[in-house]
Amino acid sequence: MDEIVKALTESFGPSGRESKVRELLIELIKDPVHGYEVDKVGNLIAWKGEGGKPIIFVAHMDEIGIVVTNKIKNGFYRIEPVGGVSPYVALSSRFVLEDGTIAVVGYEHETAEEAKKNLSNLTFDHLYLDTLGKDIELGTFGVYNRGFHKNGDLWISKAMDDRIGCAVLVELVRRVEKPKRKFYVAFSIQEEVGLVGASVIAYPYDVEEAIAIDVTDSADVPKGFKRHSMVLGEGPAIKIRDKISISDRRIVEKMVEVSKKNDIPYQMEVLTMGGTDAGALMKTKGGIPSATVSIPTRYIHTPGEVVSAKDVDNTVKMLLEYIQAV
Ligand code: CO
Ligand code: ZN
Repeated sequence: MDEIVKALTESFGPSGRESKVRELLIELIKDPVHGYEVDKVGNLIAWKGEGGKPIIFVAHMDEIGIVVTNKIKNGFYRIEPVGGVSPYVALSSRFVLEDGTIAVVGYEHETAEEAKKNLSNLTFDHLYLDTLGKDIELGTFGVYNRGFHKNGDLWISKAMDDRIGCAVLVELVRRVEKPKRKFYVAFSIQEEVGLVGASVIAYPYDVEEAIAIDVTDSADVPKGFKRHSMVLGEGPAIKIRDKISISDRRIVEKMVEVSKKNDIPYQMEVLTMGGTDAGALMKTKGGIPSATVSIPTRYIHTPGEVVSAKDVDNTVKMLLEYIQAV
């Protein structure tokens, strides 16, 4: 499975520019699924099985990134974050742009005093993109230029958020042989800029449940956020709530029951921040009961997002059993 994760995380796909990721996903799923389509805004939806209580699983294809907003002078540009990019993380990072240009981010500091001031309150006003002299178009998108690496059970890459969710869904359609109900695996666009794709992704289909697969904060680091309990390696996190939605209680209870019954490790997730596609799925049509299953991840929204392979595998197992527990 690590090859799929490597291919997906290293693929280029900031919000609004997901086509390469979508093409790769189509290649990965087209054989095991019974059908697929790309909707009018670019979401990819595939399905397998029939009857029962139809369910849709959604992972987002897009990743955070930057967009070029203005030219300063030759080879130097102003940028804006696409999704949650911290200026502190962007500073000194390498980016790859959609035309293949490799660039680096610097900050303005004409005096030592200005350096101190800007570093203590860094904003995109003080940052610039150095394209190594290359001329680029305004509106060009970019993502962190950092690849996949593994050390035993721990995997690191840019864009684990949420290509790891995409990889879980690819594995899911590959592993389910005789689904007891129709299920959809769907890959949404523009989650990072406001759950855009997920707002319409389930609309055309008759689904009775929706589950978003995404990453969540892992607090198992020195001085990790102490109001969070999630850790790497102890199983998928069944979300109770985040800042924008509260998971449907019946789905949460069923997910716990299925996990216990099948000896799949799990943890409960009570997140104080963030949100997932579940927040949009819940508000589709007359309302679709929705929840999120999360993969604990260190350093979310940085080029060094770390997950545990054990959690990834257990997430696939959990969803597989959930499909069959109709
Ligand atoms: Co994110
Ligand atoms: Zn995400």
